[in-house]
Amino acid sequence: MKQTAPSYETKALREFAEVLRERRTIELFLQTPVPEKLLYEAVDAAIWAPNHHVTEPWHFFTLGEEAREQCLDLCAAIVVEKKGEKAARFKRQSWSEKPGWLVVTCQRSQDELLQQEDYAACCAAVQNLLLYLWKAGIGSKWTTGDITRDSRFLDILGIDEAESFVVGLIWYGYPKLTPTQSRKSVEDVFTELP
Ligand SMILES: Cc1cc2nc3c(=O)[nH]c(=O)nc-3n(C[C@H](O)[C@H](O)[C@H](O)COP(=O)(O)O)c2cc1C
Repeated sequence: MKQTAPSYETKALREFAEVLRERRTIELFLQTPVPEKLLYEAVDAAIWAPNHHVTEPWHFFTLGEEAREQCLDLCAAIVVEKKGEKAARFKRQSWSEKPGWLVVTCQRSQDELLQQEDYAACCAAVQNLLLYLWKAGIGSKWTTGDITRDSRFLDILGIDEAESFVVGLIWYGYPKLTPTQSRKSVEDVFTELP
């Protein structure tokens, strides 16, 4: 393949940076369904994340009606124990409005360093996925709430807890509202050593 020197600040680069900057975590979604093919293509792109030893430690699960209902029941059961009936009803209702459900898991490793690197690779893959979706006009929310560490959640997914763990439950759909966010300035987080 012909390689050309990258030029500084091209239109393509600015547009790419816009996607990185403007992607936001979305709470409120429209009910318009996201085409399955688009999600499939997003995963197909996401798995090109950097990955030490190319272990490909990730797995992606989309949840259909039946699995979602089970998750909503589980969510309500978890919240009822901690915060009571009213809070559980509220949470169940708000979760039932999430149009798309995706779970990303990471394979477990006995080697601590490999586990850390595999998790990092999974996170890079998730970010690839979120950015691809965002470029396609689809918002998302990456959650690691209580449900993602509950063994009953893994049962719903049919995952063996000894083999894998959940990197995130990702809700996705067309945004109803896009919130604003801020970050520190680059000067605060960037150091140039001589
Ligand atoms: C690993 C990970 C776990 C997260 N878990 C949650 C969560 O459980 N609940 C939540 O409200 N947001 C969660 N978020 C989303 C962050 O709150 C969000 O990225 C942050 O507020 C910055 O907003 P932005 O994504 O729009 O830039 C998570 C993000 C990451 C990367």
